[in-house]
Amino acid sequence: MTGVPERGALDALRLRSGARRPRRLRRTPALRRLVRETTLDPGDLVYPLLVVEGRGRTPVPSMPGIDQLPLAALEAEAHELAELGIGAVLLFGIPAAKDPLGLESHADDGVVQQAVRTLRAASPELVVITDVCLCEYTDHGHCGLVDADGYVLNDETLEVLARIAVSHAEAGADVVAPSGMIDGMVGAIRAALDADGREQVAILSYAVKYASAFYGPFRDAAEGAPAFGDRRSHQLDVANAREAELEAALDVAEGADALMVKPALGYLDLVRRVSERFPELPLAAYNVSGEYAMVKAAAANGWLDERETVLEILTSIRRAGADLVVTYHAREAARWLREQA
Ligand code: PBG
Repeated sequence: MTGVPERGALDALRLRSGARRPRRLRRTPALRRLVRETTLDPGDLVYPLLVVEGRGRTPVPSMPGIDQLPLAALEAEAHELAELGIGAVLLFGIPAAKDPLGLESHADDGVVQQAVRTLRAASPELVVITDVCLCEYTDHGHCGLVDADGYVLNDETLEVLARIAVSHAEAGADVVAPSGMIDGMVGAIRAALDADGREQVAILSYAVKYASAFYGPFRDAAEGAPAFGDRRSHQLDVANAREAELEAALDVAEGADALMVKPALGYLDLVRRVSERFPELPLAAYNVSGEYAMVKAAAANGWLDERETVLEILTSIRRAGADLVVTYHAREAARWLREQA
């Protein structure tokens, strides 16, 4: 016996006339483009910006290509991103001073509030989304107010989140994005925005956010790692999916305008589930810092082709059901997409 089939066996395997041959539509680049199901456009991408106060442009070692940006760099940044056709920016602030209550988070001259005003003035058409959380502003690095045992207090934190959202809206944010997984955050923010006459400001809820190891590089970048403990008392358990649907359903009921699943790559099943359960709402997926760092590290070693890998990842996230992709690759991906258009 050899591994080569007998002549008669080969004839039996050969496709009959009239058989389905999926390869017919893969024969040329033009045919493949014609039948492509998923598109990827710079307008679907959201670029996170880390704005720092009290120091200059500072590279983030674990995220090659990403810098902490001073306010003075934002005008040029806005022009470049608008020019590339990037869908939106997602703003994070790193304040000069932190305290137990995270007071800078809702200061009128806070770093994000100033950044929003600068971006608005520089590029009125750029969509500005702000991350609403306390972890970059508290000296303990937690996403809310904590009690003596270090437990993140829920209802007390809601009031602060509402204040942050209103101050971002007053500065000119189009969309506020609460990321703390605090129960009731969407409802509290919606009520506060409406009471302040900001019913046009939308809420993109980080509805389905897991307690993930993939946020490591971001915590260096945003200097918001918890000083003690972890985020497991509020972020979702990696092992759970049904609970993710509950989180999404609650946020929809509380008035979220759009939902997010985070991280993206290990969680494409959730992207699919949430997109099918709430097809009426736009869905974002966050291709997080650790996912970015893995690709960058492999590419720097020559182990992966960066361009091909990034476009494959972003297309896959869209194929799973995400309308928007938040990604640190956005700037480079937009350039590549433009080149190949
Ligand atoms: C919390 C927040 C985090 C990220 C976005 N918003 C960190 C966390 O939950 O610990 C992570 C983003 C990333 O890893 O790219 N404000």
